[in-house]
Amino acid sequence: MAGRKQKDNKVKIFDTTLRDGEQSPGNTMNIQEKLRVARQLEILGVDIIEAGFPIASQGDFDAVKQIAKTIKKSVVAGLARANKKDIDRAWEAIKNARKPRIHTFISTSEIHLKYQLRMTRKEVLKIAVKSVKRAKKYTPNVEFSAMDATRSDRDYLCRVFAEVIDAGATTLNVPDTVGYAVPAEFGELISYLMENVPNISDATISVHCHNDLGLSVANSLAAVANGARQVECTINGIGERAGNASLEEIVMVLRTRKDLFQTDTSILTEKIYPSSRLITSITGVPVQPNKAIVGANAFAHESGIHQDGLLKEKETYEIMTPQSIGMMKSSLIIGKHSGSHAFRKRVEELGYKLTAEELKKAFQRFKDLADKKKEVFDEDIEAIVADEILRAPDVYKLLNLNVVSGTVAIPTATVEIEANGNIIKDVGFGDGPVDAAFKTIAKVTKTKSRLLKYIVNSITGGTDAQGEVTVRLEEDGTVVVGQGAHMDIIMASAFAYVNALNRIEQIKKNLLRGVTTKNGNDNC
Ligand code: KIV
Ligand code: ZN
Repeated sequence: MAGRKQKDNKVKIFDTTLRDGEQSPGNTMNIQEKLRVARQLEILGVDIIEAGFPIASQGDFDAVKQIAKTIKKSVVAGLARANKKDIDRAWEAIKNARKPRIHTFISTSEIHLKYQLRMTRKEVLKIAVKSVKRAKKYTPNVEFSAMDATRSDRDYLCRVFAEVIDAGATTLNVPDTVGYAVPAEFGELISYLMENVPNISDATISVHCHNDLGLSVANSLAAVANGARQVECTINGIGERAGNASLEEIVMVLRTRKDLFQTDTSILTEKIYPSSRLITSITGVPVQPNKAIVGANAFAHESGIHQDGLLKEKETYEIMTPQSIGMMKSSLIIGKHSGSHAFRKRVEELGYKLTAEELKKAFQRFKDLADKKKEVFDEDIEAIVADEILRAPDVYKLLNLNVVSGTVAIPTATVEIEANGNIIKDVGFGDGPVDAAFKTIAKVTKTKSRLLKYIVNSITGGTDAQGEVTVRLEEDGTVVVGQGAHMDIIMASAFAYVNALNRIEQIKKNLLRGVTTKNGNDNC
């Protein structure tokens, strides 16, 4: 793959985990979680963070605004349809960013023009130019996306791009909105744009590929080989339908095959795995074990021949190391005799920054776990840390839980909870131990919430592994995620449930104080 010679050999990484990723089912996040993700993306070294779609809801607006105020190194982009209201709202949300970008878009394909927009090509062109000009009044950093570009007429696309560059767009995005393109064709489209948009040297070509045919990463790379210098992607490939191109795959291909692409990114690859874990623990959506780069089996060599080769020389079967993406193989790193200093160092090496208070609590939990468990792995520490960071302030505190269950016993739970300083105790039954625990907790807290999802993961191997539980609850249209980790799976479940109940309480309190506005889209 010779690739097109470009003066700039750096590929910018535009992360849309908080926009295209977050808007997909099951991946919703609340404002604190979005902030936490944005900070992690900055640590990871992404060039542009697409923080959200400010016009979509008050919650989205608030989150983008907070992220814009917090993030210093990365550009913070706000999405806007090509109209005055959206653009003004996006600017309002990002105006305090050190490096703001307005990202405006309109469809250019015949099929979208005819059925969705009901506009002529001329009208769309006029709106695109007008919108870029409006955005440009606010900031010099303007991105324009031609939605459904891969199904658009090429010469019309060239015309739109040429005119929006003249209007001030500095990045031109070519989305494969419906995941229809195949690599050779998509690469050729980028090449065509490079040759037929006369002022293309005044802008950066970006690509945004969806994964409906499983080709989003391949398409993005074909585009890079043909001159694209910005790639839009998400952590773990989350996003609409089959998802967006996965950040970790694109970055590691460019790093591992630098010989071929002769380009690189500014991503600190050692922060990839912690970033992936963070998204999983916030959304509760697990990564498939055989997923490239961040899947649990991505570096697990099972075959005897491979193991033999690896023992003799790593390069025989390993094209990149788990360390290079920050996945320290599950090794015993620190034990029960380790002090808080070693613990803090390890937490930092894993890519987390904790406040003194969070660190103190996490260290205490680590000590408790190390007392019970033979070996403490990085994954155990990550689970504890994620749990502490994401913990909502306690309205309910689980003091005690005893569950009786078995082949003849009716599953029975005894629960003791501290609620606003009062200690409440009760007993309840269920169809199994987790059901009994949840029903009794629900009785004690009088929650009106509904359980939408319950996910259990074993953090490491072995029967003494910690279980990591994620629950998703809904109350009056508000959806929250709660997490819990414990060696006892029933305890982990109860902690996750109580954690989610605390989040609901936190949201109710914020609503009363007018901190955030609840609506359909801002579900946490
Ligand atoms: O998929 C798409 O076309 C988009 C645009 C808003 C860039 O997400
Ligand atoms: Zn998209």
